[in-house]
Amino acid sequence: MKIAIGNDHVAVDYKNQIMEYIQDKYGYEIINYGTDSVERYNYPEAGKKVAEVVSSGKVDRGILICGTGVGIGISANKIKGIRCVTCSEPYSAKLSRQHNDTNVLSFGARVVGIELAKMIVDEWLTAEYEGGRHQVRLDMISDIEKDN
Ligand code: RB5
Repeated sequence: MKIAIGNDHVAVDYKNQIMEYIQDKYGYEIINYGTDSVERYNYPEAGKKVAEVVSSGKVDRGILICGTGVGIGISANKIKGIRCVTCSEPYSAKLSRQHNDTNVLSFGARVVGIELAKMIVDEWLTAEYEGGRHQVRLDMISDIEKDN
């Protein structure tokens, strides 16, 4: 699996810890689209870059981190084909994969402790989309996107 990661200035060290965790545990390739500087950096830039490479199929999934995970997640969800979940606990991370086939995960460096973030990442990376009745709803979401 190839993963794109992005972050703002609030989450530089946190992003590095998450990258290292995923690489060590899963051996996945991670491409860093976020900032590595603590100078002010506007989160929509990273949200857009990561969402675009997920949407185009260049990578399989995206992970986004800002202070709350909210702004960067909203930015990602503006890109066609993106289903980004902003998450602060593992249950929603898992169900968002199984029911919503989320392709981007966001969380907040100021909200979620690093060990809890690793649990969220584990659930999100390992849970599979279940399809079936859920596909009808995802198709409805795609229709909303097409109409707007
Ligand atoms: C930056 O101060 C902060 O607004 C950002 O990291 C994020 O929390 C926005 O949603």
